[in-house]
Amino acid sequence: MRIAAIADIHGNHAALKAVLDDIAALGLRDVVNLGDCLSGPLEAGQTADLLLLLDPEATATVRGNHDRYLLETPAATMGSWESDAHSQLAPRHLHWLSKLEPTLVYRNEIFLCHATPATDEVYWLERVSPEGHVHLRPQDEIEAFAEGISQPLIL
Ligand SMILES: [Fe+2]
Repeated sequence: MRIAAIADIHGNHAALKAVLDDIAALGLRDVVNLGDCLSGPLEAGQTADLLLLLDPEATATVRGNHDRYLLETPAATMGSWESDAHSQLAPRHLHWLSKLEPTLVYRNEIFLCHATPATDEVYWLERVSPEGHVHLRPQDEIEAFAEGISQPLIL
């Protein structure tokens, strides 16, 4: 199986369009999207419209933490990444976001999540110190996050 994997679009409509054109030119049909689709200062509404056009039979999208913030954060307390995007979104876009799952298994072979299976806010491969320094996690911690996942590929 050949698939395209995309992630962290963050409302970058022009980049998404270019990448989808590239995917089509490569003859790929299956697209998995690892989340954080819309938040940011770019074109959230246009990006959502493009994502809604993807073939639901050949596309799987998991919910990222920023996708979740768009749904859960009251408008008055949203950070700029969410408020800029939220102001561009129509009810149909928010409905689409609300249907996204935090994890999925694609075609019985690929486990999909944003961040880790248990939380969308913890880096799988790195730890961040209180000072903001990023360090590779020990191998046993990385492997522990995958416990119980039987698929041969994790994205
Ligand atoms: Fe994220």
